[in-house]
Amino acid sequence: MTELWLFGYGSLIWRPDFNYVEKRVGRISGWTRRFWQGSHDHRGVPDAPGRVVTLIPDLAGSCDGMAFRIPPDEVAGVVEQLDYREKNGYERHQIDCQLAPVECGGKVLPATTVNCLVYLAGQSNHAFLGEAPMAQIAAQIERSQGPSGSNREYLLELAAALREHSLEDEHVFELERLLHRCAE
Ligand code: SIN
Repeated sequence: MTELWLFGYGSLIWRPDFNYVEKRVGRISGWTRRFWQGSHDHRGVPDAPGRVVTLIPDLAGSCDGMAFRIPPDEVAGVVEQLDYREKNGYERHQIDCQLAPVECGGKVLPATTVNCLVYLAGQSNHAFLGEAPMAQIAAQIERSQGPSGSNREYLLELAAALREHSLEDEHVFELERLLHRCAE
């Protein structure tokens, strides 16, 4: 088994509960992050699903997230764990990711491209909810709760993680603003 690069763009950015030996900010082109996937098992329940992110094809767009390098002896276990965690409509894809340069031990690791495993919930999966007015998405997030916690926490943690790494995502930040307004 060889090592594996995994790209996370949602909860995998802020709650990577698996072993990895390196993490780097990365960008995948041709995809955009949207809160269009239903969550029946983490941030909602079957009768009242929450909303979590998936990637939507967008030729002109891109999505910034975090790439994790998993060492060879951890790959099988991590993939098994993630297949379970992401089981509500997500499938494994392989997508090229541009890693940002990073300083490491006084040296700069240059930008490079790696082929990453990405968990992606396609538009024909049973839990896909699709587009809706932003205020409606925010209201659904505000009221949803599931076994992993509140949907609100998912959105706020994602927004905070993006900001921590100086990554932009207007869709996520607008929902965060609307959520704060819902709570007023
Ligand atoms: C991901 O984070 O890469 C997949 C979606 C999620 O688990 O939130």
